[in-house]
Amino acid sequence: MRPRYGRVTLRPLSELDSGAWRRIQAHFRDPEIAHLNGTPPNRMPLWLLKRVLKADARRTDRTTFGIYDEDDAYIGTIELYDVRGSSATLGIIIGEHSHWGRGYGPEAIHALLGYAFQELGLDHIRLNTFGDNARAQAAFRKVGFREVTRSRIAGGRIDVHMELHRGAWLEQVGQAASSSGAAAGRGVA
Ligand SMILES: CC(C)(COP(=O)(O)OP(=O)(O)OC[C@H]1O[C@@H](n2cnc3c(N)ncnc32)[C@H](O)[C@@H]1OP(=O)(O)O)[C@@H](O)C(=O)NCCC(=O)NCCS
Repeated sequence: MRPRYGRVTLRPLSELDSGAWRRIQAHFRDPEIAHLNGTPPNRMPLWLLKRVLKADARRTDRTTFGIYDEDDAYIGTIELYDVRGSSATLGIIIGEHSHWGRGYGPEAIHALLGYAFQELGLDHIRLNTFGDNARAQAAFRKVGFREVTRSRIAGGRIDVHMELHRGAWLEQVGQAASSSGAAAGRGVA
């Protein structure tokens, strides 16, 4: 299953080659990305990181994809975790700084939402981000997420909780399709 939207294709971790795995390691070690995610930079050797992520990917409550751009270059990772009943939590890292602020995040999220709502039959996707991550909040809003709560957490940062329901997403997709005449590029390969 390779969900697609716009310039982006999502591939399961089982399809990643050694170059993509080296980029994942670089992304997880990146101090700026670690700060945006609220985690320490990951110092695992590649063989261990691979083993941990592959084991995570086998969990039934988690679905992880590599994000590829229009040149088939690996640019990041996106996942659904805590998949329980009809709900799941979304996480995304566009790891290549060169691809930030160019709309790849919303395209990858859109592809994953199509998979979540249409293939997995989920009803509700939630996520958490930090109040100081304005780019992430803007990207999530673009695909229809709405802020639900905002609270101060340990360490003083603000936790922003956002959600999207299937009905709202389908309505938005329908509106986009009718205003453009077609939802160009959307699909699951
Ligand atoms: C967050 C992320 C997924 C967003 O994807 P993206 O492709 O970079 O997002 P976009 O290009 O759509 O940019 C989102 C919006 O934020 C705005 N933006 C860009 N940089 C910004 C900044 N530094 N501050 C505020 N807004 C910013 C852009 O103007 C854009 O809005 P516009 O298209 O209406 O102009 C991606 O940047 C990323 O993965 N970053 C690193 C890890 C991370 O933060 N993950 C999320 C953790 S919850």
